[in-house]
Amino acid sequence: MKVLVTGGCGFIGSHVCEYYIKKGDEVISYDNMTKHEIVRTGYASDASRNYNWDYLKNLGVKMVKADIRNFEEILDNAQGCNYIIHTAAQPAMTISWEDPQLDFTTNALGTFNVLEAARKFKIPVACCASVHVYGNKINETLKQGKTRYIRVPEAIDENHPTLEGTITPLHASKGTGDIYVKTYIDTYKMEAASFRLTGLYGSRQFGGEDHGWVANFSIRSALGWPITIYGTGKQVRDILYATDVAAAFDAFYKARKPGIYNIGGGTKFSISLLECMDVLREILGKDIQVNFAESRHGDLQYFVCDIGKAKRELQWEPKISPRNGIEELVKWVQKNRELFKGA
Ligand SMILES: NC(=O)c1ccc[n+]([C@@H]2O[C@H](COP(=O)([O-])OP(=O)(O)OC[C@H]3O[C@@H](n4cnc5c(N)ncnc54)[C@H](O)[C@@H]3O)[C@@H](O)[C@H]2O)c1
Repeated sequence: MKVLVTGGCGFIGSHVCEYYIKKGDEVISYDNMTKHEIVRTGYASDASRNYNWDYLKNLGVKMVKADIRNFEEILDNAQGCNYIIHTAAQPAMTISWEDPQLDFTTNALGTFNVLEAARKFKIPVACCASVHVYGNKINETLKQGKTRYIRVPEAIDENHPTLEGTITPLHASKGTGDIYVKTYIDTYKMEAASFRLTGLYGSRQFGGEDHGWVANFSIRSALGWPITIYGTGKQVRDILYATDVAAAFDAFYKARKPGIYNIGGGTKFSISLLECMDVLREILGKDIQVNFAESRHGDLQYFVCDIGKAKRELQWEPKISPRNGIEELVKWVQKNRELFKGA
């Protein structure tokens, strides 16, 4: 089959491209190469920016440099495809405050364009939302344990109200994409899914303080640099390794049950920032310098997905534990030290 992956040169997009090309499918990576979130990492060099592009090209993926805000270009590339996986995005909260127009046009209009192309050619499509669509009222329901925030019940399902509490442009734009997926399912009976994704991590992730905290911590600690934690460090996510995310997209293609899905590691794979630091100390066998700073506007302090719906409807569940996944990520960083030079 032929698969179009928007944001193919991003972190998740690159794993999705790899998954399908290794299965023997034809794959198009469609990315404008902005990679907004690496700008402030200090390692936004040409080498890190182009790493995923070169990696995928060598695997035989068709590389297209184009923008999801350009409808005609999406139409040209979508024609003849059997599946669209839409991962292109402006994913960072911080960038959404600073440039709400970029955030809106990329996440809201971009998702709309992808859905329209899928509708026109009757192609199944899976889009990336985020657990941020639930909003920040969850922050008001937490108790503090020794190393993590605690919430009862622990996991949150898709029926939880959305966009509650204080929100930012990122909440609005990701929420808009999510609502449009539901709209296109309800109105046009499309085979579409919106994945409300939790904290994702894995190799080929150039995480910084803006986006991709597990990668940010892993890169900095593997290279011996200090880490800044915004808030208490008791923030919790049910983190999910990249290959498990790629498998979830394929599970949707096979099951073809339209809808909204929480896609995360679930209660089994939840971890706090402080606990993640402990895992890193253990893997690296050394101490890590941590500085604490004020919590940032819009930060969601807790999310653990109830993944019951994805298990039932898609027959999908995560396989890689945080301990094993973080070790894989650290190994990738250690093998590719030169990518992070200049920081
Ligand atoms: N990584 C996480 O922890 C996480 C958590 C929740 C949700 N998500 C969502 O998952 C999706 C993938 O996230 P990621 O971490 O792989 O992000 P990423 O930033 O690594 O990848 C996004 C890619 O989209 C490309 N892109 C940006 N604007 C574009 C445009 N206008 N046209 C074409 N391409 C464009 C970028 O160049 C980049 O390669 C996003 O929708 C994100 O919001 C990610």
